[in-house]
Formats: sequence, C-alpha cells, structure tokens
Amino acid sequence: MSQFLPESILTFLPDFIQIIYLIATAFFIRGLKLLNSPATARRGNQYAAIGMLIGVVITLFDQQILSFEWIIAGVLIGGLIGAVLAKKVEMTAMPELVAVFNGFGGGASALVAWGEFTRTADPTLIPADGLITTGLSIFIGALTFTGSFVAFGKLKGFISGRAITFPGLNLINIGSMIGVLTLVGIFAFDPTNQTIFWIVLGVSLLIGITSVIPIGGADMPVVISLLNSYSGIAASMAGFVLNNNLLIVSGALVGAAGLILTQIMCKAMNRSLANVIFGSFGGNDGVGGSGPTVADGDKIVRETSPQDMAIQVSYADKVIIVPGYGLAVAQAQHVVKEVAEKLEAKGVTVKYGIHPVAGRMPGHMNVLLAEADVPYDQLYDMDQINPEFSTTDVVMVIGANDVVNPMARTDPGNPIYGMPILNVDEAKRTVIFKRSLSPGYAGIDNPLFYDEKNQMFFGDAKKSLQELSEALNEV
Ligand code: TAP
Repeated sequence: MSQFLPESILTFLPDFIQIIYLIATAFFIRGLKLLNSPATARRGNQYAAIGMLIGVVITLFDQQILSFEWIIAGVLIGGLIGAVLAKKVEMTAMPELVAVFNGFGGGASALVAWGEFTRTADPTLIPADGLITTGLSIFIGALTFTGSFVAFGKLKGFISGRAITFPGLNLINIGSMIGVLTLVGIFAFDPTNQTIFWIVLGVSLLIGITSVIPIGGADMPVVISLLNSYSGIAASMAGFVLNNNLLIVSGALVGAAGLILTQIMCKAMNRSLANVIFGSFGGNDGVGGSGPTVADGDKIVRETSPQDMAIQVSYADKVIIVPGYGLAVAQAQHVVKEVAEKLEAKGVTVKYGIHPVAGRMPGHMNVLLAEADVPYDQLYDMDQINPEFSTTDVVMVIGANDVVNPMARTDPGNPIYGMPILNVDEAKRTVIFKRSLSPGYAGIDNPLFYDEKNQMFFGDAKKSLQELSEALNEV
C-alpha cells in the first residue's frame, strides 16, 4: 500500500499510525467507562468493538501483513461467528463463553510470542528484555489456554465440578511456577537452548490444568475472571514482544479490569483470592432441589399458596423482589416482570434488591432483568436497598439463598460469615420461592426458611410465578 503514497506523506506515516492506535485505545477506555452502568453498557460494548476494529485494520495495514481482501474476509467471518455466538448463548452460559474467549486470547498471545521468536533467524540478537517478555507471554498465555478450557469443561459438566485434588498439589503447582519463571530467566541468557523453550511451554500448559482442576465448579466464575486478567497480561507481554503500544495498553486494561473484578467478587463473597485458588471450596453448584421439602427435624416451615400470596402482595404498600441464582436457572425473568407490573397496576410500589454476587457471574441479575426490560430505576444495589427492608411489607426472594442468609451476620463458624447480605429478615414478611430446603452455593442451611415471618413457595420459580400471576387476576 505504502508504495502508492507520495514521499511527503510516507514521512508522517509512522506518526499517523501511532495516532490511530491512540484513538483505538481511547475507544477501549471509553467503552470500559460506559460498561459501568447497565443503561450505557451496550454502548460501551459498541465503543470497544469499534476500537478493536480500528486496532485490527491499522495493525494489518501498518505491518502490511495481508491484502485487504483477506482483512475484509477475516472481519466478515469473525464478525459472523461472534454475532451468532452472542445471539445464541444462554445468559446462564455466559461464563462458559467468556472462558473460551479467554482461552483463545491466552493461546493467541503465546502463539504470537512463539511465532515472533522463531521468525528471528538468530535469537541471540534479541535483547534480554525481549526474551523475558517472550518467555512470560508463552508461560501466562499457555496456562491461560489450558486453565480456561478446564474451567469451561467444569462449567459444562465435561469435567467433574468437584474439587479434584490431593495433598501436596498446591505445593507442586507453586514449585512448578517458580521453576518455569527460573527457566524463563535462563532462557533470556541462552535463547539457543530449544529444550528450555519446550519445557517452559509444556510445563505452563500443565500448570493451567493442575491449578484449575482442584478448584470447585461453583468457584469457576472467579477463576474465569482471574484467567481473563491473565489473558490480558499475556496479551500485554505479546505487545512488548511485537513492540505494539495498542496491544500493551489494551492487554494491561484487560489485566487490570480482570483483577479488579476478581477482587470485587472475592470481597462480596467474603473470601480471599488465596482461599478461592487453594481452598478447594464450592464443589456444590447449588442446583440440588433434593432436600427436605416441608420440614426439617423440629424446625417448622410455613408454606404459602398462589392464592394466599396474591392476597398478601396485592394489599401491600411496598414489595421488594430479591432475585438469585434460581431465577436464572428457571429463566423466570419475564414472568417476574409480569407479576411486578400487575402489582404496580394495583398501586403497590415494587423495587428489586440486587446483591453484588447474586447468581453465578458479575452483574448476572442486572443482565437477566435487563433482558426482560425491567426499568433500571427499579433496580437497587445492596447498600441502597438495605435501609428499606424495615419499611417493606413483603419481600419476594426468588431463587436466592446465600445472599439473604442471616447466618452471615450471626454465625462466625460458617463459610459465609462476614459476607454482606441483603437484610430481608428486617421486612414484615418474606416469601422464598425455591424448590426445596436445599442449600445454595455455600452449602449451608438458611435459618430464614424457619423464621416465623417467612413462608416458603415451593416449586420451580418460573412455574410458581406463573401461578402467582394467574392468581393476581382474581384479586
Ligand atoms: P444460591 O445461594 O446459590 O442459591 C440459589 C438457590 O436457587 C438454591 O438454593 C436453589 O434451591 C434455588 N434454585 C435453583 N434452581 C431453581 C429453580 N429452577 N427454581 C427456584 N429455585 C431454584 O444463590 P444466590 O443467593 O444467588 O447466591 C449466589 C452464591 O453464588 C453466593 O454464595 C455467591 O458467593 C456465589 N457466587 C457468586 C458469583 C457471582 S459473581 N455472582 C460467583 C461465584 C460464586 P432449590 O434447589 O431448593 O430450588
């Protein structure tokens, strides 16, 4: 392409290309900022996608890697696959999709570093820092690749969701990581030693498997967020290898965003990252539905019916809906909105209380409710809604369990002690929609089930809400 341009323009071409890279970076940063709120998240995604398009086109143009026919064909085919995947994927399967994206991202970074290394005829001419970033890119990229596919397998059920571990595995993993990092250092001094290169690649691929396999299936969203961060760091390292500022910055953004999200998830679950990675916790996926249905020993459980429930909520002034993982499993987001609209038509104030780790992925409930077009101004974060429970007539807890468990406040011995929860027990009445008395993700009983102000509405959340919706027509 450059052969067609006049000499005067060619002088400025490198600066012009850097400016375009900067513009693409600005699109990424703006996109991230807009992802802050559900109201602007769609636009945020569009900004990031435009940034990516600019980045891809200018890189290929800059490096004169391919002819434009290939660029256009690649954009069309890749865009089509992305669009079909985005349309078809179930909301509950989003963590799996992200795991696959991370895996390919990490794998691509490792391949880029490897390709760049083998392309150089005499590796001793590569400066030491270039060799170190090459080694790190291969290490992090390769472990992200296998780790992400193990996470995908655990979520899909191809691999057992249980924490598969044995004594000493954590030590072996830590030892292997230190070993690989040492080899990367040696490789920087002796890049002609192919054996070191292959050992780094092989052991990194193994570490990805052995470090994710001991983590319980239900902790996979946290692991995926961490792997997302790794894939960003691997990309950033590949950016150093290629001397490409856009890749360095965008990789660093992904790395930082993934790490911040991981921190937020751990904090909201009151767990440390070390406990998630080494704790072999969370093998139970909270979809049991097989526990006792109406009574547990001498604890009394009160049941309600659609008709009872319809009367209670119709005569309430304020109802708060607390959605949880079971709402996502039951795909009850549309019918919950239908019920809320019927109540509003009767003059009831309806709000939704969203816990930061309700469901199984960040923003899970916001995304589900947005899918059903629930107005954003009815969605309240935990800190906003907690002061309101004491003045609420009925709280409808739909498929949520851990995020409303009062033991998080009262019982120092249980795994969720200290996790901030939605204080639904302060309301005049609570009704819990779930199939049984089975525990949720944390695997612990919930005293709220037996609270005298609480009633259980047993059954699949979607079916129960449909029955309630019909009963509301009669009140
Ligand atoms: P959970 O405590 O996991 O409880 C979900 C409940 O949904 C279960 O007790 C289950 O009871 C019920 N359920 C399942 N399918 C149902 C259906 N079809 N209809 C009605 N109910 C159904 O959920 P939560 O309160 O949303 O808490 C989330 C948990 O996941 C927290 O412990 C959190 O730390 C953890 N976690 C969250 C994330 C993120 S980022 N959100 C990531 C990893 C872990 P039945 O079987 O009796 O129906």
